[in-house]
Amino acid sequence: MSLRERFPIFAKKVYLNSCSQGALSIDVQLAYARYLADWEEQGSPWELWVEQLEATRQAFSALINAEADEIAVTASVSAGINTLASALDFSGPRKKIVVSDFEFPTVGQIWHAQEQRGAQIVHVPAAGNSVPVEYFADAIDENTQLVAITHVCYRNGALLDVPAIVELAHKKGALVLLDGYQTLGTMPIDVKQLKVDFLVGGVLKYLLASSGLAYLYVRKELLSQLHPTNGGWFSQANIFAMDNNAHTPSATARRFEAGSPPVPNIYAALAGIKLLQTLGAEQIQTEVRQLTSAIKAGVMRRGFNLVSPVDPNKHGALITIRSHKVDLLVKWMADDGIIVSSRDGNLRISPHFYNNQADIDRLIDSLTKHKALLV
Ligand SMILES: Cc1ncc(COP(=O)(O)O)c(C=O)c1O
Repeated sequence: MSLRERFPIFAKKVYLNSCSQGALSIDVQLAYARYLADWEEQGSPWELWVEQLEATRQAFSALINAEADEIAVTASVSAGINTLASALDFSGPRKKIVVSDFEFPTVGQIWHAQEQRGAQIVHVPAAGNSVPVEYFADAIDENTQLVAITHVCYRNGALLDVPAIVELAHKKGALVLLDGYQTLGTMPIDVKQLKVDFLVGGVLKYLLASSGLAYLYVRKELLSQLHPTNGGWFSQANIFAMDNNAHTPSATARRFEAGSPPVPNIYAALAGIKLLQTLGAEQIQTEVRQLTSAIKAGVMRRGFNLVSPVDPNKHGALITIRSHKVDLLVKWMADDGIIVSSRDGNLRISPHFYNNQADIDRLIDSLTKHKALLV
């Protein structure tokens, strides 16, 4: 069976919506079945389930070149950032959180909630399809505690210049939180090379699993100085200490976890990540670039309005085009058997390694058929 055949949806549809949800594989289906079988056959195999949690931590760390002790396994990106926020102190001079206008809304919302604890949120505006590095230079100063940036914008596919922003932030003594939800799984990510302090992402898009599982990377040098107040028994040094009289957090990034882990989603995540590893990050990046290049070429040849940057070094696996009736376009394309999505008046087309040139040809044919909604 080919890799593509492991994703049954391709027998019926052209699936190009991985920025929203990865396609379901047979492997992930079997993983869910295995979870139910383990539960049925073994009753309450918590030892096994905690082992699976640790295997997920290992898998995340291997994907981003971190150590397992630098990874918290969380139920969502929002949960991870909230716990991180609870560990920051806004009583001193570093009250500023700098947030780009390309963030997924949960990021802005979580930091604005910290205004109640004294944080001041500064937004870095976009200029068309980019957020210029100079704008970050203007916003980051000695009072900045943290800079929150997305790797690739969920609305338009633009890729931020992470190394330049990290350099600016670190020069002023600020930390950097990178949201890699739209990148991990589509390209190699090395936290040591990027020098980010925190990285978040989840498994439901390019890591090929489902909602309810995410990760927070915390650079190990920061662990001993961060004391989250959002915790629980899975954040303790000894999970099974069962001490109701004290909070004794783990010395590792597990201090950013909380309660019982999302075990079914862990089974799915391990299966999704394993599938991804059959190709490896470099190979996937090459394939995704070929596909996004073919999409851009087809879109530009027909004179449609490309929103994502043309330069392949400035966008991710998500290509967007302008439509004046985007909801109708998504619906008509679904009628043609092509699954895409929209945000902000932009049509979002997001291939993964399982797509091929025939998918792109069908996409361009469908766009051409509905060009009245595009130009
Ligand atoms: C870039 C980005 N960040 C965060 C999220 C949301 O994360 P969660 O729902 O796990 O909090 C998404 C989901 O679409 C996203 O695209």
